[in-house]
This record gives sequence, structure tokens and C-alpha cells, in this order.
Amino acid sequence: MRSSRAPLAVDSGAKHMKDPLERFNTWLEDAKKSDAEEPTAMALATADASGAPSVRMVLLKAVDRRGFVFYTNLDSPKSGALRANPRAELCFFWAPRHQVRVRGQVVPVAPEEADAYFATRPRLSQLGAWASRQSKPLGSYGELERAVAACALRFGIGKVPRPPNWSGFRVVPDQIEFWEQGQFRLHHRVVCTRDGEGWKEQALFP
Ligand SMILES: Cc1cc2nc3c(=O)[nH]c(=O)nc-3n(C[C@H](O)[C@H](O)[C@H](O)COP(=O)(O)O)c2cc1C
Repeated sequence: MRSSRAPLAVDSGAKHMKDPLERFNTWLEDAKKSDAEEPTAMALATADASGAPSVRMVLLKAVDRRGFVFYTNLDSPKSGALRANPRAELCFFWAPRHQVRVRGQVVPVAPEEADAYFATRPRLSQLGAWASRQSKPLGSYGELERAVAACALRFGIGKVPRPPNWSGFRVVPDQIEFWEQGQFRLHHRVVCTRDGEGWKEQALFP
């Protein structure tokens, strides 16, 4: 990935910075312009009520000052974990040089926001959301295909509404860490932590 932006500055000691969201967006845009596969893919780490961790990939569908949004099945294990313990960490990796970790509280997106996003999805993806009982045992792939076909019949040529058990979560960051590959493993790391209305920044040993 090549970029015209300045390398990650690493100063010792805490200091105040404007907005790590701007830096995140710059890195994401660079990744989109590069030949990175799935630049919006991010690992989502959760822990359930007992503290047991789990991690899986999801896709970033929106990001702004309110947080980082992904969509999923609300009956899935990840959704259950997030209801029991509404904190998560996201991890992006844009090979070979950049990693961003985002940690924070998780809140459901508003129904209208989920409706608006669902309406933009390809029809087959919409039908798939109705047909999938995400993470439940599947007898055969044919069972899934039949479930999709049944949903296609049910909605005919009409609009496919958002399933009641499908929506989004927003990770509201209280910490964002930037890692940039350096020579001889002298990587650059900066962690940004919320500080009142702004953010403070601290360099870390790699
Ligand atoms: C690149 C990639 C992107 C994915 N994006 C999503 C997503 O946005 N939402 C989702 O529910 N699952 C997504 N998945 C599937 C999840 O990784 C996971 O298998 C599924 O959500 C079940 O997770 P759970 O059993 O922990 O709830 C994606 C998988 C990959 C490999």
C-alpha cells in the first residue's frame, strides 16, 4: 500500500490531538485505493457473560464520530454476547503495514438506520438475511437453498423488509490504537484515548 500521507508521528509522552477518526479515515481510504482485499473487513472480539472470548470477521458498513457500525443476525452468538456484555474490540489489518484497534461500548443502531442500510443491499442478500439462522446447525447446503427459495416465494417481486432479527451494532470508541510497520521491527504505535470532548494520544513501545 502506498500513500502520500505523512508517516505516523511517534512522540514520547501524552499529548492532545484533534481527531483519530480523521487518521482512521485516511488509512481506510488508502487501503481502498490499494489492492487490499476487503478493506472494510474487521475482526470483532467479544466476551460473553462468563468472560469467554470469541472473535470473527465482520464488515464495517458505516463510520463517523458516533462510532463503527456492522450488521448481523440478532439471534447469533455474537449478538447474545454483546447483549450480555456490551463491549467489543475491532481490529483492522491492511497488509503489510497498518493495523488499527478500536475498543469501546457497543450500542444497537436505530431501527430507521438499519432499515435504510438493509434497503441498499442486493435482493439476494436481503433474502439470505431472512433465510439464515446464523450459527445454528445446518443439515445440508440444500436446506439453506430451500430456505432462500421459500423467502423468494414469500416476498414475490415486492419489497423485502428488514427481518426483525437482523440489525446493526455501533462500537462507540473510547480507545483507538494505530500501528504502522517500521524497519527492523521498530514499529510505530500510538494509542488515542478519549479525554473529555477530545482525545489524548500516547506513543507505545511496539
Ligand atoms: C470477510 C468476512 C466478512 C464477514 N462479514 C460479516 C458481517 O458483516 N456480519 C455477519 O454477521 N457475519 C459476517 N461474517 C461471518 C462471521 O465471521 C461469522 O462467521 C458469523 O457472523 C457468525 O458469528 P457468531 O457465531 O460469532 O455470531 C463475515 C465473515 C468474513 C470472513
